[in-house]
Amino acid sequence: MCGIVGYIGKRDVVSVLLKGLTNLEYRGYDSAGMALQDCGEIKIYKTLGKLVNLKNELENKKSELKHPSSGIGHIRWATHGSPSLVNAHPHTCSCGKLVVVHNGIIENYKELREELIKKGCVFRSQTDTETIAHLVADEYANTKNLEEAVRNSVKKLQGAYAVCVIHKDAPDIIVGARKHAPMLVGIGDGENFIASDTPAIIEYTKRTIYLDDNEIAVISQNSVKVTDINGHEVIKKVETLPWEPVALSKLGFKHFMLKEIYEQSDVIRNLLNGKLYDIDECVKLDEVKIDKEILKNLNKIEIIACGTSLHAALAGKYIIEDFAGISVEVEASSEYIYRKTTTNASTLVIGVSQSGETADTITAIKQAKAKNSHVLIITNRPDSNMARLADSLIPVNAGIEVSVAATKSYTAQLISFYLLAIHLAEIKGSMEKSYLKNIKHELIQLPSKIEEILSNTSNIKECARKYSSYKNFIYIARGINLATAYEGALKLKEISYINATGYPAGELKHGPIAMLDETMPVLSILMPGGITYEKVLSNSEEAKARNAKLIALTSSDDKNIDALFDVVIRIPKISEILSPALTCVPLQLLAYYIAEFLGKDVDQPRNLAKSVTVE
Ligand code: AGP
Repeated sequence: MCGIVGYIGKRDVVSVLLKGLTNLEYRGYDSAGMALQDCGEIKIYKTLGKLVNLKNELENKKSELKHPSSGIGHIRWATHGSPSLVNAHPHTCSCGKLVVVHNGIIENYKELREELIKKGCVFRSQTDTETIAHLVADEYANTKNLEEAVRNSVKKLQGAYAVCVIHKDAPDIIVGARKHAPMLVGIGDGENFIASDTPAIIEYTKRTIYLDDNEIAVISQNSVKVTDINGHEVIKKVETLPWEPVALSKLGFKHFMLKEIYEQSDVIRNLLNGKLYDIDECVKLDEVKIDKEILKNLNKIEIIACGTSLHAALAGKYIIEDFAGISVEVEASSEYIYRKTTTNASTLVIGVSQSGETADTITAIKQAKAKNSHVLIITNRPDSNMARLADSLIPVNAGIEVSVAATKSYTAQLISFYLLAIHLAEIKGSMEKSYLKNIKHELIQLPSKIEEILSNTSNIKECARKYSSYKNFIYIARGINLATAYEGALKLKEISYINATGYPAGELKHGPIAMLDETMPVLSILMPGGITYEKVLSNSEEAKARNAKLIALTSSDDKNIDALFDVVIRIPKISEILSPALTCVPLQLLAYYIAEFLGKDVDQPRNLAKSVTVE
């Protein structure tokens, strides 16, 4: 959460910072702010709400600025202190000479705050961040060296931080430090950048240094120095970013979410490319770096993830258990980290994350590593912190996902699970070759089937129009599409703020059915020919008997349901086990169109941030 960008160089500093913040806005949008070194003065601008307000403020106050030479910017996702102007970053020390922007949570901020107040510091906000400003200023008073002051201060911080600091008396440098929160340095010619994530700098440079925990970076116009917590210089590898700036364009779509939904067929093609060429050949998954003998005898897998990635993990459980016969446990990372797990050296632990930065999942992965498990990470960000922890890494290569609501990364995670499960099945010999051949054949056909769904969405749009005024929805399914029900309901909740809940269809009559009446649409996911079809149909009948409006999501060959359901949405015919890769698409679109009809902010829903970098 929260996005940070710093720049020092000859370009228009305000434009560079605004561009960087624009590309980081998925990280939060409660407030935005900027501090500029402007000819011997530090000027601070802050606004509430979205970045556009800061842009307008800076446009109005353009005449105040002489020639800024560097600056730091921030967009906030509020943790400590409400989203208000006084709590907006940047924060300053009492005299206003030292300025800080921060992402993370300082756990011991209350104790530090009390000590600093005793020393005479004047606090203005309710944030934990302001403590850092006073703390570094206090150290600076002794050292007169900003780098040293930051180093001495971060030693006293508990919790997570990516922090950027500037000082009026040190106008030629920006100092950054990190622990448990992402931060990188972008290297230019006669200019340098520091940021929370790569999209902030991609327009200007692809040369990047990723900071590790407890490292401190000092950037000036012509130099970058990284040291450890003890002040020893660290020689860092300069990496080249794989992204192109075009990845951050809406390419004519009204929202990133819609663009990302439409990218899914290409995402699957990309992912299959090089891994699955021919149905007669084995899946190539060189990324899994575990000895084949160990894989053959593997009897337990644990998958840890959050949100949408957790739903992909749930589908992954069904797929792996079905194909490879290995027992799989799936758990929310936030739960995994607070219990005594049975994870051990013979467990394969899989972490799933679009961003690779989700704090709970990172903590869970670290715990699993401490128990000597082999950790396989499935992520869209091979450049992320989580990826760096991986023993094996499957990059899903979906391209940058900007919309807060995950869509194409979900599909890519699902496909990764199909490939992994086939790979395991081929090693273990747990499945008939002919069965796997059929699965591979269907996998290869998936992109064109998604294109078929996307080529005619009028039915889904009409369904969205019809039901957009309803306040509550239930999504039901059984078996592998239970993950789809959870994910479809999450999509609707996230972007339209409508109460939607996914249930195993068989659970309906154990309680939730009490809520049903004509005000509650029930969306049933049915797969003709699948083992759960008849049962979900019966559960839908039960809902109909309570006057619920019924929406069916089924395949084109389902001939006998029109009489029962009020609306029928169809996908191309597909086997039940592979169907989640298709059923998710109409549900993403349904959520999108409902949110659109309601005039919601689709790409940046309230209260959310794309990377949840605090626990
Ligand atoms: C997805 O639409 C959500 N925005 C959210 O649930 C997300 O999936 C979750 O925060 C996990 O993120 P990750 O995949 O980046 O770890």
